[in-house]
Amino acid sequence: MAITVHEKTGVFHLNGGAFSYIMKRMPNGQMGQLYFGKAVRDREDYPHLLELAHRDMAPCAFDGDTTFSLEHLKQEYPAFGTGDMRYPAYEIMRENGSRISNFIYKGYEICPGKPKLAGLPAVYAENDREAQTLKLYLEDPVIGGELTLLYTVFEGLPVLIRSAYFQNKGQEKLYLTRAMSLSLDLPDSQYEMVDLAGASLRERHVKSHRLHEGVQSIHSMRGHSSHQFNPFLALKRGNADEFSGEVLGISLVYSGNFLAQVEVDTMNTVRITMGIHPQGFSWPLETGESFQTPEAVMVFSQEGLNGMSQVFHRLYGTRLVRGVWRDRERPILINNWEATYMDFDEKKILSLAEKARDLGIELFVLDDGWFGERNDDTTSLGDWYPNWKKLPSGISGLSRKINELGLDFGLWIEPEMVSPVSRLYEEHPDWVLGSRDRQICRGRHQYVLDFSRSEVVDYIGDRMEQIIKESSISYIKWDMNRSISDMFSSGWGAEYQSTVYHRHILGVYRLYERLTRAFPYILFESCASGGGRFDPGMLFFAPQAWASDDTDGIERVKIQYGTSYVYPISSIGSHVSAVPCHQTFRTTPLSTRAAAAYFGTFGYELDLGTLTEEELEEIREQVRFMKKYRQLLQYGIFYRLQSPFEGNDAAWMCVSPDRKQAVAAYFRFLQPVNTGFKRLRLAGLNPSGRYRISGRDYECYGDELMNIGLILSDWASGNRASEVPQGDFQARVFVMEEVR
Ligand code: DGJ
Repeated sequence: MAITVHEKTGVFHLNGGAFSYIMKRMPNGQMGQLYFGKAVRDREDYPHLLELAHRDMAPCAFDGDTTFSLEHLKQEYPAFGTGDMRYPAYEIMRENGSRISNFIYKGYEICPGKPKLAGLPAVYAENDREAQTLKLYLEDPVIGGELTLLYTVFEGLPVLIRSAYFQNKGQEKLYLTRAMSLSLDLPDSQYEMVDLAGASLRERHVKSHRLHEGVQSIHSMRGHSSHQFNPFLALKRGNADEFSGEVLGISLVYSGNFLAQVEVDTMNTVRITMGIHPQGFSWPLETGESFQTPEAVMVFSQEGLNGMSQVFHRLYGTRLVRGVWRDRERPILINNWEATYMDFDEKKILSLAEKARDLGIELFVLDDGWFGERNDDTTSLGDWYPNWKKLPSGISGLSRKINELGLDFGLWIEPEMVSPVSRLYEEHPDWVLGSRDRQICRGRHQYVLDFSRSEVVDYIGDRMEQIIKESSISYIKWDMNRSISDMFSSGWGAEYQSTVYHRHILGVYRLYERLTRAFPYILFESCASGGGRFDPGMLFFAPQAWASDDTDGIERVKIQYGTSYVYPISSIGSHVSAVPCHQTFRTTPLSTRAAAAYFGTFGYELDLGTLTEEELEEIREQVRFMKKYRQLLQYGIFYRLQSPFEGNDAAWMCVSPDRKQAVAAYFRFLQPVNTGFKRLRLAGLNPSGRYRISGRDYECYGDELMNIGLILSDWASGNRASEVPQGDFQARVFVMEEVR
């Protein structure tokens, strides 16, 4: 890791170990992008990389020089109105309506470590040695604007973390109408774009397509990062796969509206921009005011998609997630949602908890329905008082009774919402987002509280603190069950309405910060109707996130496979639920549901009272297994082996950092008939280590398991004479232990 500056030539070379990122001060004072890719040696200058050429019609910066055109040069953080015809990284409107700006190089600073971003989640450095930050200072003297571009490189990790900071030091009021976290120009478009797309109940499916001329993008304009698109995209070379080839992954540390866009011009150059969605965004900057963008994380991998994901996992797992739970094995929980929905009372809950305790489960989570008059989803959000009819001893009494049974207690909340039928709404109808002279859309019969207003955040914060303080709570599931549709705040004047989406999410962060600071021992799990806000911004506050409301064993393989592109296994909320599955109505074996859930936080979400003795015994065994291998499963090195999006099967595995132990899972969706033998090639093992394999009466060396594969033919081929279970939706888990 090194940041080298050649002051004479204006070259900045950020060496992230495996990659080089090279910028240069251009003759017009703006910053140019010269190269991003596999590391190259440092040089005083790379004059030949500034690609100057005369092209008819191209706007040129200098009179008499027809070769210097921003339309064709690769730029670092491009402006609107100075000759570039592609999408700019930012746009500033002046009082006279002009949107032209021109930030030119002023200076730089290199700082050890990584600065915090005020009010925003951000990757952190634990000390000044493990990271280095370059601050590039630019100014636009005409408007009195200052712009700082921040770049952090980390020791031993091929990541580059970027953000932009705007300051108005001039005399007039400015409006920031676009402020992307990153812009990156690449010299060719021979890539496939990979992203994670889906919907509620089928979040983060892996999609990819070849880049084509024009603009291709993913986005959210829902006020949260969304089920539909995750704030992540990767560009991979055509020959790159899970294990080899060049991949560039970009992820945004933000939970609100975003845009991730790839623009391919007709010269086949690429411009990637990622940041807050400019739709409905305009941030007024009075003299002396500033704006910090969220940060974007770029990962460079030459080891394919697994290589990219492993870097994201290390960075996010150890330098984004914070607090005591960061490195701790996550408790095996039982959640009552699919067991009871809102139809419960204390007796039912205690009986479920007791059964869970007998199976070795460690944490009981009480889901929605414990407050106000909440017996269905039409009422009571905002009335954060126990429902005394259901819970005569309140949350305080129930939590202690659960503790007495030997379990920790966790609670569900949905602090950002209010039901129209609630005391809170009666008292404060103006606290919801929406225009009061129109009908406001409801989603799940509820409104969104206006978290751009500090009094609303403070009120909800006080209520939450009181409940937590009164009770014995060690886990919180923080839910959020509708998108923001009617964006209008009664708390802000006309020209500030276009700040509300962002202010709202800053309010959510503020409440998270308050509660996580006040209760540092509590494990927070974020949730948004399943995985509608599974993003890096949330991970900064909540070390784990509920991946999806779809708990079907097979659907989960797809969802978790996609989620693992960016997010560490320890962050992926995964439960075993009942069959037929409440979402897909499919019946899968208990072992298949567990095989998927092991690769996550692990827990149960079903009525234990309806299970047979045999099933309970199987669960007891699953819990034992998880406890034994939890450290490896949640904190080992994760490899995707076979994609569920490509065929009838899927596989993945975790390997301990010392490579002495590994757990692999193989999933076969439909029962094939009379097919060939199957070899599953493993990864990450010690080639010369000899491994004992569970369920096998022979041992194999690591190189055999990785190059030849693990033989699965005794059941995968559909052999009718086989003694092992056959049928659809099967999974097998293999443990490999090095014997010498
Ligand atoms: C949506 C969540 O994803 C579910 O797990 C559950 O908590 C419900 N909300 C409760 O309303």
